[in-house]
Amino acid sequence: MMSAIEVENLVKVYKGGVRAVDGISFSIKEQEIFGFLGPNGAGKSTTIKCVIGLLRPTAGTIKVLGVDIQRDPGVVKRNIGYAAQETAVDDRLTGWENLYLQGRFYHLSRAEIRRRGEEVLKLFGLWERRKDTADTYSGGMLKRLDIACALIHRPKILFLDEPTLGLDVQTRKTIWEYIEHLRAEHKMTIFLTTHYMEEADMLSDRVAIIDRGKIMALDRPGALKAAIGGDLVTVRFSAEDGLDGLLSALRALPGVREVRELRDGIHRIVVERDGDRLIPEVVRLAQEHGIGIHSVRLKRPTLDDVYLHYTGREIREAEGSREELIRTRVMSRRIRR
Ligand SMILES: Nc1ncnc2c1ncn2[C@@H]1O[C@H](COP(=O)(O)OP(=O)(O)OP(=O)(O)O)[C@@H](O)[C@H]1O
Ligand SMILES: [Mg+2]
Repeated sequence: MMSAIEVENLVKVYKGGVRAVDGISFSIKEQEIFGFLGPNGAGKSTTIKCVIGLLRPTAGTIKVLGVDIQRDPGVVKRNIGYAAQETAVDDRLTGWENLYLQGRFYHLSRAEIRRRGEEVLKLFGLWERRKDTADTYSGGMLKRLDIACALIHRPKILFLDEPTLGLDVQTRKTIWEYIEHLRAEHKMTIFLTTHYMEEADMLSDRVAIIDRGKIMALDRPGALKAAIGGDLVTVRFSAEDGLDGLLSALRALPGVREVRELRDGIHRIVVERDGDRLIPEVVRLAQEHGIGIHSVRLKRPTLDDVYLHYTGREIREAEGSREELIRTRVMSRRIRR
């Protein structure tokens, strides 16, 4: 299968010297949902803008559907849709007018716009509100309208820069469903950026963790989690007698990496994968050794742990600094007044 996107050694240095993207390479398969996960300023938006031809790269090559974007930008632009981090909706126009305008940009006929416009507005649950001006829309509706506009010309590849930024959990989940639908029903390739761990985890086939312009890790979410450590099974045994025999038996089980006492009878078993399947084995062996079990707990590493491992920072910390930044901006505006 041909790659939808191939990026090799992409570098982007802005005027003034900020090295926003520092030599990254990746390729995205057709019909893949590929997630770019990283903190503020990591270079996610810059990468997208380079790939869609909105920014000129400082170095590197980019191919979209096998075509070099420097050589033939027209082919690329016709085949992609882009919903920017800041929504491009004009809120003095109605939902329908926004869509219509977008369709005209792509030189679609009126009949085509009418047909496709109805399709995407219904798909995104906006059909009933199409005649209302966008300034009456909620944040979630604006984002949905923005994505709908990016779909009017039926692109093969959809670029979504922070599709759910600032939206509540429920709305975020609705947008995830739309994204999955687009891939399943319309065979689209989707490149999205996010700094929501859960979003990258739930939605992406593969995730690249990007930090300070570099890709720190790239794999399926499950593989990323497995690479930094397996499932953790924490067991609290009731007796001390005969425990050593039991612990050796546990260590001999296939997939078990480590068995360690945390404190008073509580033991942690690190298993490569399928921690849930280990639990009955633990119970059976404990019975064989005449040892009771007070409690068993299973914990899977989250993408949070992966992120922390590769960037040395927690994503929450990065979000905190964004709030800090916004607060600072508001304050400086007040001071100027
Ligand atoms: N037009 C510009 N001129 C100069 N520097 C820029 C410009 N746009 C972005 N940068 C800088 O490039 C770096 C990467 O920015 P970018 O917007 O790509 O990050 P991001 O990962 O999308 O962040 P966020 O999560 O905040 O959207 C940052 O240091 C940013 O300040
Ligand atoms: Mg961004």
